[in-house]
Amino acid sequence: MAETETETSEVLSWHFVGSIDELKSKACRKIYMEGGPNLALFYVEPGKFFLTNSSCPHAKGPLEQGSIEDLGGSYQLTCPMHYFTFDLETGESPMGPKLRTYQTEQREDGLYALIPRPVSLTR
Ligand code: FES
Repeated sequence: MAETETETSEVLSWHFVGSIDELKSKACRKIYMEGGPNLALFYVEPGKFFLTNSSCPHAKGPLEQGSIEDLGGSYQLTCPMHYFTFDLETGESPMGPKLRTYQTEQREDGLYALIPRPVSLTR
């Protein structure tokens, strides 16, 4: 399996997240990565998922409880705590702190993510 190194020398590889049918049953859900951090998976439209850290980079708000807005080509996530907004694709925020995002890929058997460690849908 191909591996990618980030600027922090964290080794990323493709890990199975779950079946598409199961994952598209919820617009937002928390995902548990071995050894942390927890992640948040967003299902915004058929064939489109975004994966980010679940903890807001401002003050650790629970982003899996955030709201998503379709801006016509991009999706904006709003944190439920102080309403900072983040671009779900890039993690950029006009308020400052950048949210960590991860690549996902749909394959025949389900959704995969380019992340440091395996994940589980339950704790
Ligand atoms: S914790 Fe998310 S905006 Fe403050």
